[in-house]
Amino acid sequence: MKAVKVGLLGLGTVGTGVVRIVEGHQHDLLSQSGSPIEIAKVLVKDKSKARSIQVPEEALTENAWDVIEDASIDIVVEVMGGIELSKELILAALERGKHVVTANKDLMALHGPEILAKAAEKGCDIFYEASVAGGIPIIRTLIEGFTSDRITKIMGIVNGTTNYIMTKMSQEGAAYEDVLKEAQALGYAEADPTSDVEGFDAARKMTILSTLGFRSSVALSDVTVKGISSVSKEDITYGKKLGYEVKLLGIAESEDDRISISVQPTMVKQSHPLASVNGVFNAVYVYGEAVGETMFYGPGAGELPTATSVVADLVAVVRNLNLGINGRRGFVPYKEKKLKTDEQIESKNFIRLHVADRTGVLAQITQVFAEYEVSLESVLQHPNEQKQEAEIIIITHNANRAAMNKVLGRFNTMDVVLGIKSVYRVEG
Ligand code: NAP
Ligand code: HSE
Repeated sequence: MKAVKVGLLGLGTVGTGVVRIVEGHQHDLLSQSGSPIEIAKVLVKDKSKARSIQVPEEALTENAWDVIEDASIDIVVEVMGGIELSKELILAALERGKHVVTANKDLMALHGPEILAKAAEKGCDIFYEASVAGGIPIIRTLIEGFTSDRITKIMGIVNGTTNYIMTKMSQEGAAYEDVLKEAQALGYAEADPTSDVEGFDAARKMTILSTLGFRSSVALSDVTVKGISSVSKEDITYGKKLGYEVKLLGIAESEDDRISISVQPTMVKQSHPLASVNGVFNAVYVYGEAVGETMFYGPGAGELPTATSVVADLVAVVRNLNLGINGRRGFVPYKEKKLKTDEQIESKNFIRLHVADRTGVLAQITQVFAEYEVSLESVLQHPNEQKQEAEIIIITHNANRAAMNKVLGRFNTMDVVLGIKSVYRVEG
């Protein structure tokens, strides 16, 4: 039986897992896809580097075009990362009629529409299951499992590094900087961890998920982003006292076909299933009008979990090859994108203020909320007698973002408000 030939771009964490699974599960893959799968060429930056797996010397190359221009290669698997070179190589592979599997969220979030259009033009498959939440098959679930429903909310813990940091800070009282170093040493963080801790990695993943979930072309610039670098131990402690865990959440909502997408540290009620997603694990909560609440949980990164998704995509391409239906499943966003205004984005909020500890101050604070029609759920006050200051923690009922911005703007002008220490969205 003729083998389907694969060109692997990258033999790092994910590429190594792909080789292990393709070699180790050959019989199952053949039974499920209908053809043997052979990794024929492998692109690396440095052939002389020591590797944890054996790849035949003649299969390794440092020249990407050896893979792209090899007419015998049917499928290109891009697991090298980066944006410009991987985009050029993927477009060139599609141009030559090769099918593509990629784990590259940065590329798909920024250039997804162009790549999908090229694949459609050439009748090629392009699959990218591993690009969001590594080992969780959430992309196939959104494209296929929810076709019959209207999704109104997607909330995701889609960055393992930040979830690991938040978990260690919450459970062990660890310091942010120390846990970040640990996450880097364990290989969870990106080469430059800024994209993890400032929320950009999660924003890219939410761009992909909301495009699929809301069936409209969401751009990375549509996502408002705030990372975890300003989350303090105090916020985590106060949150816990009030029954919340702080998580970096991607939140995408759709109401009357108007959508909003954001990434921010969020106070998640401890009774919500997302609050107990700990460590490097990921989870995606999806609410559909018909199905109601669903949640998908699993490893978001790592060699074998991520490779599981990549190889599942490979099997899908090979099946399509054997059925002669490649390029026909293409997901096409068909809804016009209408973004919510700040007046239409609503949430509960947690606000921590330092104020002067004087008679009437609390009344002045609550008066500002009343002026902008923001209703309060609870107010806690802790005096600091040595400094004649008080700390006030307020949880609002649902309030729109525009009103909250006005409230915070007013606090900035008030003498009695010594500092707005933190503001979090509240969920659950
Ligand atoms: P990695 O460990 O850094 O591996 C990258 C591989 O690509 C290496 O083998 C490297 O060669 C090769 N490479 C990089 N640039 C190259 C170039 N210019 N020319 C030739 N070869 C080049 O990366 P990774 O963690 O496996 O991630 C790969 C992709 O999967 C990324 O898009 C990432 O975002 C995505 N992803 C990763 C995970 C995860 O858990 N790691 C999870 C989900 C998605 P050398 O080996 O010679 O250096
Ligand atoms: N740096 C990413 C994370 C890797 O921490 O989730 C998986 O995309």
